Amino acid sequence: MATPTPQAVAAPLTRAAIFLVLTISPGAEAEHAVKDMFADLSALRRTVGFRDLNGQLSCVLGLGSAAWDRLFPGRRPKELHPFVELHGVHHAVSTPGDLVFHIRAVRQDMCFEMAALIMERLRAFTTVVDEVQSFKYFDDRDLIGFVDGTENPEGAAAAAEAALISDEDADFAGGSYLVIQKYLHDLDAWNTLPIETQEKIIGRKKLSNVELADSAKPPYAHNVLNTVTRDGRQISILRDNMPFGEPGRGEFGTYFVGYARSASTTEEMLRNMFIGKPEGNYDRLLDYSRAVTGCLFFVPTADFLDAVQA
Ligand code: HEM
Repeated sequence: MATPTPQAVAAPLTRAAIFLVLTISPGAEAEHAVKDMFADLSALRRTVGFRDLNGQLSCVLGLGSAAWDRLFPGRRPKELHPFVELHGVHHAVSTPGDLVFHIRAVRQDMCFEMAALIMERLRAFTTVVDEVQSFKYFDDRDLIGFVDGTENPEGAAAAAEAALISDEDADFAGGSYLVIQKYLHDLDAWNTLPIETQEKIIGRKKLSNVELADSAKPPYAHNVLNTVTRDGRQISILRDNMPFGEPGRGEFGTYFVGYARSASTTEEMLRNMFIGKPEGNYDRLLDYSRAVTGCLFFVPTADFLDAVQA
């Protein structure tokens, strides 16, 4: 059997992105309209993408657990379930989301046009839960001032190994699990911390991005808690965090985006961050960053979407 073509999960990181999270209205008419749109998604992307071939436009569609059961009853991806809410030292909320569109391009106008065409098709049949326009910030830093993304798997093969399902769930090979969380930072409080304290929280130097020596990292450093190993091997996820905000309203955020071939990897990282490893040894970044959304989606292959019949 030919390997199915994945969606653009491992697309290169881009300067701009839009996140659209929707719920599907009740009723068969809405289900029909949504499925009808799935099969046209790649054509819509070509429509906008062809207008600037250097624009690197991509659009990844994910489905939440309840939406999958509504639209595709029967076989389901092994690890698809609602986002697991965590009540630790801090709270990882679980929020509604049937569909997510992760739209990326080097130009914001391309993302905007793609989102507009998607909503033209879906507005009458869905409710928008969240829409975020995001951008890359100086030197790929997040708004807390640290370079974000350095330890992502490097190269297409490593990205696929981290993010794409393989033989472990052969019916859904080429798919991926996507966790998104919208974080709001208390930048006033963060910026009163001495730089050395911030660096200990992240586990890297702020200006140079150099990783702290293991002996200099506290057990709660972000990069300590997010190191997950199985059988002695480090397991990676593929991240594409994006800054967003509205300075006029004092809003400064990070949109966390994590693709993984196993939802359990990202979930283990979240437990380490929110509950702590061991319990109570939580991620101090969360004292300054509040998760206001949380969703888990399954990202089927591009071939699956192209073949959907309404
Ligand atoms: C690393 C920021 C949330 C997983 C990093 C780094 C920064 C960062 C600055 C170091 C550079 C790098 O390797 O990218 C943030 C911010 C977050 C956030 C601002 C939200 C407020 C999360 C969440 C997860 C996560 C929710 C997982 C569920 C990771 C992983 C690494 C990392 C796996 C690489 C660790 C390593 O191998 O060194 N993050 N992060 N991050 N983060 Fe986050």
